[in-house]
Amino acid sequence: MWFLCVFYHRLLDFRKPEVEALAELFGEDESIQWRLPEHHHNDTPFHFVHLSSEEIAQNIAKRSILVKGMYELWGEGTCYEELKDSIQSFPDSRKLPFLTSDSTFRISVETFRKALTFDEQKERIHSLTYIPFEGKVNLKNPDHNFFLMEMDESEESNGLPPIVQRRIFFGREVGFADRKLLPTFQLKSRTYLGPTAMDAEMAFLMANQAKASSGKLVYDPFVGTGSILVSAARFGAMTMGADIDIRVVRDGRGPDCNVWSNFKQYGLPAPVALLRMDNNVPPWRSGLKEIFDAIICDPPYGVRAGGRKSGGRKILRGTVDPYTVPEDKRTGHIPSTGAYSLVECVHDLLHLAARMLVMKGRLVFFFPVLRDESGSEVKFPEHPCFKLVAVSEQILSSRYSRVLLTMVKVEPYSEEIEEAARLMHLEFRENHLKWLEEGNIHSSVFKPSTDSSQIQTESKTFKDPKPKYRGKYV
Ligand SMILES: C[S@@+](CC[C@H](N)C(=O)[O-])C[C@H]1O[C@@H](n2cnc3c(N)ncnc32)[C@H](O)[C@@H]1O
Repeated sequence: MWFLCVFYHRLLDFRKPEVEALAELFGEDESIQWRLPEHHHNDTPFHFVHLSSEEIAQNIAKRSILVKGMYELWGEGTCYEELKDSIQSFPDSRKLPFLTSDSTFRISVETFRKALTFDEQKERIHSLTYIPFEGKVNLKNPDHNFFLMEMDESEESNGLPPIVQRRIFFGREVGFADRKLLPTFQLKSRTYLGPTAMDAEMAFLMANQAKASSGKLVYDPFVGTGSILVSAARFGAMTMGADIDIRVVRDGRGPDCNVWSNFKQYGLPAPVALLRMDNNVPPWRSGLKEIFDAIICDPPYGVRAGGRKSGGRKILRGTVDPYTVPEDKRTGHIPSTGAYSLVECVHDLLHLAARMLVMKGRLVFFFPVLRDESGSEVKFPEHPCFKLVAVSEQILSSRYSRVLLTMVKVEPYSEEIEEAARLMHLEFRENHLKWLEEGNIHSSVFKPSTDSSQIQTESKTFKDPKPKYRGKYV
């Protein structure tokens, strides 16, 4: 069945991948099909999606963050006469069950990039008298919701692409998003926050990409304040996190302000465990594998805070390697750390995921990219155990973006595969990631605009810069 899927006009690259992940979560086994309305640009909020049942469409809309609503389309046209013909030719067998005298209904008018006065909206609704509604109107809690959606031809505005042709849609609502989740979970009311805490909307999108749900175990190896795991727990998953910083996982800012209290605040089950762990030297016992259903994280890639790994200590005078912590300094000892490059961090993350994810488990993580007008195509990290299924760019400034990568484990981990992965990583590091190693990302993001030549030639940047209207929120 085809449904009209109306998106919020934001985070454009994240919208279809979210629906695709949720479709899989709710039981679609084939990859789903998309179709654009006539004359629409890919960034339009209106898309047609083919799903096998209304129940799946409803579940996707309910759980999604970026789907405004899913509709059974009854008609469309470039003017109200065309809309009437289209609605009248939509089969009665599909319409009449929703128009009965014992049911209530409401018609809402929505517009995109235009506004209608209250009287104009009333006029539009009254023009639909040819639809044989038998039931009563109920504006508060109707049995059936109908939507009239209108947009006019328009010039490019605010950098948005022009609408080439006026279009009007009429449809029955099948499901809508519960965005009340966002004010409830917004960071400004979170008790324990850090400088890199993940914004609630993005954390929910990441949890959706990972198909977090009841009975699954979700792991964040760079847990920080736990924001990503909070969203996974909200969707019913069990959670587990780790961080190299003992102050984060053990102490926070006191007994009522820490990662645990962030879960308690929303009445969510606490994480199964929070570990103090360096993802560069994880302490898993040998042979342990396939325990997580999803790994979701925002790795420390060095723009606001760089990664750290164990080591880098100044050897105490007179100490001979390997260094052991003197007995009198053991209590409260915080191991010293050194710089952890993104190259190594990405390698360790893929290695962890290849080994610790169950088959078909998902790895969802952010990866930084520099943008410019002339750059070559970006190559993303690869591993023979994984298939890349979604790439969603969030533009953070005119020269810097982060891209949410979603990978699915398609091959079981083995030592032979690990060797192939090591060679793949060496090639990737040599040809595509070298520029990240020398702290370039920080200097690229913060350098004065005149000093652009050097980094840009070394870096891998987007081939196809996004149009102007794409920004942090769009
Ligand atoms: C970008 S922050 C993640 C923030 C987190 N998503 C949140 O919402 O608060 C990266 C985290 O990785 C941790 N980290 C850095 N190097 C690490 C390593 N080698 N192993 C584990 N954690 C590390 C940092 O302490 C920091 O908390």
